[in-house]
Amino acid sequence: MIKRGRILRKNKNIREMVSENKLHLENLIQPIFLISGKNKREKIKTMDGIERKSIDLQIKDIKKMVSMGIKSVIIFPSIEENKKNKNATEALNPKGLIPNAVKEIKKQFPELILITDIALDPYNSDGHDGILRNGKILNDKTVDILVKQAILHAKSGADFVAPSDMMDGRILKIRNNLDKENFKYVGIISYAAKYCSSLYGPFRDALNSAPKSGDKKTYQINPANSDEALKEVIEDEAEGADMLMIKPAIFYLDIISKVKANTYLPVVAYQVSGEYSMLICSSKNNIIDLDDAILESLLSIKRAGANLIISYFTSYIAKKGLIKT
Ligand code: PBG
Repeated sequence: MIKRGRILRKNKNIREMVSENKLHLENLIQPIFLISGKNKREKIKTMDGIERKSIDLQIKDIKKMVSMGIKSVIIFPSIEENKKNKNATEALNPKGLIPNAVKEIKKQFPELILITDIALDPYNSDGHDGILRNGKILNDKTVDILVKQAILHAKSGADFVAPSDMMDGRILKIRNNLDKENFKYVGIISYAAKYCSSLYGPFRDALNSAPKSGDKKTYQINPANSDEALKEVIEDEAEGADMLMIKPAIFYLDIISKVKANTYLPVVAYQVSGEYSMLICSSKNNIIDLDDAILESLLSIKRAGANLIISYFTSYIAKKGLIKT
């Protein structure tokens, strides 16, 4: 007997009725790039459509995002070169860009879920996520600083801290110390399977945070590996992570799937800067239709198993009403 699969694709209503996955604005997280000062905005050469902005201007954007139904943002600081040093001390400045932004944003939007990135690269004159000495990244010394950074962000009002550094043992230490400081309900979204990817270039452009020497291969995962990613994820869950992140997304859909099959925690995928710019550039060259490609990419990430997606397209999608609620 012929199996007529097309019966279930016959019209829009049937297709929607049997659709297995759906995008919701509530599951998307918008990344935001901050600079110091007032009324300041700067274009990012390699990320058309995204700007670094001072806190006051970002607050205006956030107001619009919240009114459109966006529930969460993750914030990143672009630090002036003269504030960077080999110990990344600006990461622990209580009056720094991130603590100020967290306080300001939380004051105005207490319900917005605010996530901060935990790593040293925006503050480190070496451009690495950890402390570099004689060509080596010092794991435990870095973790001690990350713990303090996480506590500072928690004190400022962050809902979740998201360690993106890939140092060993940092989730456990951050969890224990957050608890000790009585931030028991500040959560940890671990960048658990973070690959050493070619797709972070535009982000490093945005923060001017590219490594000055060497690469990140001694801490980020080799793209050839998947068992290793699973191992990292399982460890981070055991250490106390509340959510597990895979990054990048589209080149790593197999990893998203495997992680989803091996945990009951929410799985987060980061559609990174290079993924954003690939889609933007191809559409600018009339190779693909941007809106269709955005939705297809996000649906694929969802289908693979991601519960939440960090995407630079979040606010664009909301503005254009690409996701129907
Ligand atoms: C830094 C960090 C990076 C990203 C998020 N946090 C870059 C890196 O590891 O070099 C990349 C995000 C993106 O490309 O959009 N620890």
